[in-house]
Amino acid sequence: MRVKKAVIPAAGLGTRVLPATKAVPKEMLHLVDKPVIQYIVEEAVAAGITDILIITSRGKATLEDHFDRSPELEARLAASGKTDALKEMRRISEMANIHYVRQGETKGLGHAVLCARSFVGNEPFAVLYGDGVIVSERPAIGELCAAFATYQKGVVGVQPVELSAISRYGSVSARPLADRIFAVDDMIEKPRPEEALSPYAVLDRCVLPPSIFDILDRTPPGVGGEIQLTDAMRVLCHTEGMIAVHYEGDRYDMGNKLEMLKASVELGLRHPELGAEFALYLKNMAKKAR
Ligand code: UTP
Repeated sequence: MRVKKAVIPAAGLGTRVLPATKAVPKEMLHLVDKPVIQYIVEEAVAAGITDILIITSRGKATLEDHFDRSPELEARLAASGKTDALKEMRRISEMANIHYVRQGETKGLGHAVLCARSFVGNEPFAVLYGDGVIVSERPAIGELCAAFATYQKGVVGVQPVELSAISRYGSVSARPLADRIFAVDDMIEKPRPEEALSPYAVLDRCVLPPSIFDILDRTPPGVGGEIQLTDAMRVLCHTEGMIAVHYEGDRYDMGNKLEMLKASVELGLRHPELGAEFALYLKNMAKKAR
């Protein structure tokens, strides 16, 4: 079955990047000229996803405004002959069928995904974390959807990380099946380095079967008192097995100040209008840096 629906959890409080997120949702912080959430929706659309549910919370109404039509702005752009900008504003509001639901309390990523149950129904669906930007020629979630089509099992996106950093993520057991593809029999959320099952960390993308909802319903709060998606996926590994895909590209966590800066640099350098001038600027700055 082809994956047509995606869920983007974006209800978190973003406490690691305060004060930027005091009044602006983390997912609305911009990288060069687009908010983070737009990069993520564009990735899903590039992978053939047609219906997207964004999980929001209080104070996140600007997320909805961003993908809505803006008649006053469009009229102004039309009147002043700014046709490219006008086309772009319309494209943003027509990219996909975008729906929203609020997570009343931020009880964790697993709980956020559970809020998508009636939207998803009885079909496989993609999950893209609202604060994980992946810069890649191929949409990362498309690589996962292709693995789902082949293996008909839940798929997690992974990349290798330093063992000293593994305790920030979930770690998976990884038995090689094909190029960059592994069978996963077990996983653990935020392990100590000596508990890691492999260097491969669960990073921001997965494709899940609808059976995950019954599992999430029964998943008790885990690390940090939150309902962890990794804990539910662990049960899925034990019952149905899962697949891991080492996706291509550079992944940035928008919940981390240094990674926000690095993402801005990579996307700035890749920007068709600004890249060349920005590269010159960076070279000069690098000479001044110690
Ligand atoms: P994070 O744990 O990185 O986000 O969750 P956070 O809670 O905003 O982080 P802190 O406060 O800086 O530690 C990953 C993704 O899951 C969403 C977040 O919005 C983020 O996109 N999330 C997390 C929810 O939607 N609901 C939750 O209860 C927790």
